[in-house]
Amino acid sequence: MDLIVLAHPNADSFNHAIASRISLTLDQLKRPFVTHDLYADQFPPALPAAEIERGAELPEVIQRHCEQLVAAECIYIVHPNWWGMPPAVMKGWIDRVFRPGVAYRFSEGDSGEGVPCGLLHARDAVIFNTSNTSAQREQCIFGDPLDRIWRECVFGLCGVERVHRRMFETVVTSTTNQRDCWLNEVEQLVCEVSAGTIEPRTVIG
Ligand SMILES: Cc1cc2nc3c(=O)[nH]c(=O)nc-3n(C[C@H](O)[C@H](O)[C@H](O)COP(=O)(O)O)c2cc1C
Repeated sequence: MDLIVLAHPNADSFNHAIASRISLTLDQLKRPFVTHDLYADQFPPALPAAEIERGAELPEVIQRHCEQLVAAECIYIVHPNWWGMPPAVMKGWIDRVFRPGVAYRFSEGDSGEGVPCGLLHARDAVIFNTSNTSAQREQCIFGDPLDRIWRECVFGLCGVERVHRRMFETVVTSTTNQRDCWLNEVEQLVCEVSAGTIEPRTVIG
């Protein structure tokens, strides 16, 4: 099973169009998948104190997200660049679902100071981002923090080494024709990742 997780409040957004094209492509490839539209689902992002400990009792909705995260063969993440970060609801999804004992664990005798061991089974993660900053400015001025966050801090730590990322810019000035081309790129990337015929990389533009 593949997993698609989307964070954008506007159903007419380009982010929603990306998520729709991913689902359409997976349908065509006959790959089973689950989609979570975090805004539409009103995902509760605040991690309560009672959930922090490993082995804590979890609300059913969080338990289900954890099971799907662990079971996923490929994880698709779709969100805009907001201040060099994911929207808060996506951050909350990470906080609550990428749990100790679910997404990573520490070695015996390690109280949390060592290097964790990733527990996710997914072979690939694919991140689609949108932004209004040029590739040159993003890389030279801001250092593309989203790449570090997803590639190293989240998926690398949790054992998913094959992280593909595509950041589309500049969305605000893009034409319909440009967006159509971008959506075709989404489709192609989904096909190539599913077939295992593409090496992980980041492309901004
Ligand atoms: C709260 C907020 C913060 C944003 N921060 C950034 C930013 O740091 N860099 C950037 O390039 N665009 C930023 N944007 C613009 C969004 O990235 C842009 O609107 C989005 O990628 C366009 O995709 P959409 O058509 O699917 O909304 C921000 C937008 C909002 C609403």
